[in-house]
Amino acid sequence: NRSLVSIDDYTKEEILEVLARAAEFEKNPNSNILEGKVISSLFFEPSTRTRLSFETAISRMGGRIVGFSDSSSSSTSKGETLNDTIKMVSNYSDLIVMRHPIEGSARWASEVSDVPVINAGDGANQHPTQTMLDLYSIQKTQGTLENLNIFMVGDLKYGRTVHSLLMALSHFNPTFHFIAPKELEIPRAYKIFMDENNITYYEHTEFDSIINDADILYMTRVQRERFADPLEYEKVKNVYILKNNMLKDTKDNLRILHPLPRVNEIAVDVDTNPKAYYFEQALNGVYARQAIIAKALNL
Ligand code: CP
Repeated sequence: NRSLVSIDDYTKEEILEVLARAAEFEKNPNSNILEGKVISSLFFEPSTRTRLSFETAISRMGGRIVGFSDSSSSSTSKGETLNDTIKMVSNYSDLIVMRHPIEGSARWASEVSDVPVINAGDGANQHPTQTMLDLYSIQKTQGTLENLNIFMVGDLKYGRTVHSLLMALSHFNPTFHFIAPKELEIPRAYKIFMDENNITYYEHTEFDSIINDADILYMTRVQRERFADPLEYEKVKNVYILKNNMLKDTKDNLRILHPLPRVNEIAVDVDTNPKAYYFEQALNGVYARQAIIAKALNL
């Protein structure tokens, strides 16, 4: 089926096709192409941007939304399984957008559902729609996706946006620099993926002095909700904080991205620096998600 569960469900050509469609939606966001369509929005985990940008995307295309943003108000709280919820909801709607805390839940849902499932984040695994807006933002600010120096900083272990983005960028000959404390380094499976695809990458634990070659600085939040032991979170929670004075010798084309929400890993004085792009990045999520929905429904 036409689900988007992992970013590698899209080929390089499909990624480029969806990005081109997103640019069309940016020029003309309002249409009726979803008229008569019902889209289910099932958020078993909190969200601001992903849920609201999907809802905006659907509204701008004339579709209807059903669903929940708090699973405690659904029959999950009475013990209904994900299997049964998805079977029901796939009979109600033309497409399911789902966020869930369990890794692999979106794949499971796509196998149970009769309609396409779009993964809006499954635990620490994947967040492919975030990747499409990240790629759109990179292409828009750099003029290309090819041959870029990409620095990813923070929680590279639990950060699902990092996992999806590194896989997608691997089509475009990147050089990666991963900056993380040992406890939060990139999982082995992604290192194997990069080795198999001959991707150049470097790992660092120091942050301050090494970002001057960056084209993209992708900051991430330490994912408190994924830590089994709160004390382990306390040890790493403030490990890297980007401050304005760290940007003075960086490249003119550098743009700072962050999937958001931010806790304190980017000081607020960076927000007015012309290299800060994270709020525009979040707006790009509407166009990217319009394009993803249109592709999933073959429109
Ligand atoms: N970037 C992102 O997924 O944000 P939300 O958790 O607010 O949806």
